Amino acid sequence: MINNFTKQSLQSKLPSISDELLSISKQTLAVNNGNIPKWEAAINEIKKQPKGSIDYQAPYLTIHTKNNNIEALQQSLKLLMPWRKGPYQIGDLQLDSEWRGDLKWDRVLPYIQPLKGKTVLDVGSGNGYFTYLMALAGAEIALGIEPFLLFNYQFQAMQTLINNPLNAFVLPLKLEQIPEKPLFDTVFSMGVLYHQKNHLLHLQQLKTVLAEDGELILETLIIDEKQGEQIIPQDRYAKMRNVWCLPSTNTLHTWLKRVGFKKIKLVDVTKTTPEEQRATHWIGDNTQSLKDFLDPNDDYLTIEGLPAPKRAIFVCQK
Ligand SMILES: C[S@@+](CC[C@H](N)C(=O)[O-])C[C@H]1O[C@@H](n2cnc3c(N)ncnc32)[C@H](O)[C@@H]1O
Repeated sequence: MINNFTKQSLQSKLPSISDELLSISKQTLAVNNGNIPKWEAAINEIKKQPKGSIDYQAPYLTIHTKNNNIEALQQSLKLLMPWRKGPYQIGDLQLDSEWRGDLKWDRVLPYIQPLKGKTVLDVGSGNGYFTYLMALAGAEIALGIEPFLLFNYQFQAMQTLINNPLNAFVLPLKLEQIPEKPLFDTVFSMGVLYHQKNHLLHLQQLKTVLAEDGELILETLIIDEKQGEQIIPQDRYAKMRNVWCLPSTNTLHTWLKRVGFKKIKLVDVTKTTPEEQRATHWIGDNTQSLKDFLDPNDDYLTIEGLPAPKRAIFVCQK
């Protein structure tokens, strides 16, 4: 999983923490997960496919390969389902993930400082769709961290198909495992805060790893002011078990301020639509997606009767 290119890049771009990052990642990868043989087999099959260069042809992160055996490639990539984040295109094969990541990127990109030459951390990177976009936008290094092992294998599958690897990496780490040093010029936390039991601690940790003049991009679920200061779901939210906080944008602003962020700007609020999150044949046997998580008679409510998913993007500094 962690090849020499990854090691060398981390050692040259993040010398003070690379050994620690690599050692924790190796320990994590050594866990006993019954799916690993299947995922390794998929990667080994994908290695037999031709490689190509990667670029972004919205909405697809596109790998320009020729003469793929599409059927074999599709079969191997399907061993790595569910594909939540994307979409990707490899040669003529379109991998339409559950989420149209390009729509989020369109909402983020106009409001952030240019990534050219920056050291970037993408917290909760999933399979690295955005991490690649950050590298393609010119980041010196884009480090994605993602504790869920399958998504690390999905990233590996794409890396295997690329012949000009970018300085984009995904490692199986949690934010809590990143050494407490202010090394990152831009830190992204997108879709992660609401999964944290301790939201203030997450914000504090983001601040700790952010460089002095760096920028945080925080994207998370929010509620309208009229619905109160925050909702803590009693049980599930849009069928997800692990949603702990849904603040209003004012409340989130206060949290950011309290933790010590400055120049806090709310740059976007968007209701999640079935165009952005939908079932595709790349999500596996559980074919439920946004429309199944909403009240069938009122798409402003979740199936549990809470406000339907709406997301805000904040940009702020230390
Ligand atoms: C909803 S996904 C968001 C993926 C992507 N960033 C996006 O915006 O679409 C949240 C991801 O954060 C990861 N995650 C949750 N807690 C984390 C933590 N403490 N550190 C790093 N990643 C975390 C989860 O495993 C999950 O893949």
